[in-house]
Amino acid sequence: MKFFIDTADVEQIRKVHEWGLLAGVTTNPSLVAKSGRDFNEVLQEITSFVKGSVSAEVLSDDAEGMWEEAGPLTAIADNITIKVPMTAEGLKAVHRFSQAGIQTNVTLVFSANQALMAARAGATYVSPFLGRLDDIGHDGIQLIEEIAHLFELHQLDTQIIAASVRHPQHVTQAAAAGAHIATLPVSVYEQMLSHPLTDAGIERFKKDWEEAQTRS
Ligand code: E4P
Repeated sequence: MKFFIDTADVEQIRKVHEWGLLAGVTTNPSLVAKSGRDFNEVLQEITSFVKGSVSAEVLSDDAEGMWEEAGPLTAIADNITIKVPMTAEGLKAVHRFSQAGIQTNVTLVFSANQALMAARAGATYVSPFLGRLDDIGHDGIQLIEEIAHLFELHQLDTQIIAASVRHPQHVTQAAAAGAHIATLPVSVYEQMLSHPLTDAGIERFKKDWEEAQTRS
């Protein structure tokens, strides 16, 4: 499973990018609004150093509007992926984008049937939202398992992005369930990185080393 970061905060993206494990970025309108910056400017900055997929979401309700919005976005860089909502108009747009060789990420996926439809329309990625499903008492991880099984059974090469990830356990479980990618907020990266026994181990090694130096 590959790692994407789910944010429009360029500093956070730089920080995780420097760790050498980042394969892409997802943004959404809420995250861009939170950054308080111009969308195009943010995308230009991200694509100057992230060479993997960078998802940029369109806001139109109709396929024609999505197509028009996507033009200036795809002109920013070759690795812009157009993020499209899981609607009938969204599917129409995905089909047109795929015919034109433009990568798409179908977002707000909450069922296996939605994922199957998006894949058949030509989506590059589908994004099932784990956390939001868990919030309403459903099982997000079970959905990933189901989609992964169906994509394999029917030889669909659309990739599954585990989205709306809320904690490190989601990450391990999404990897085991067959997600190709997990897109994580920086807070989840930070939680995954540290372990109290790692910190205690480093302290202990340093202490033992210093004690040996003072003895010799
Ligand atoms: C995915 O691409 C979305 O941006 C994101 O994961 C949504 O997560 P949320 O439910 O925490 O807003």
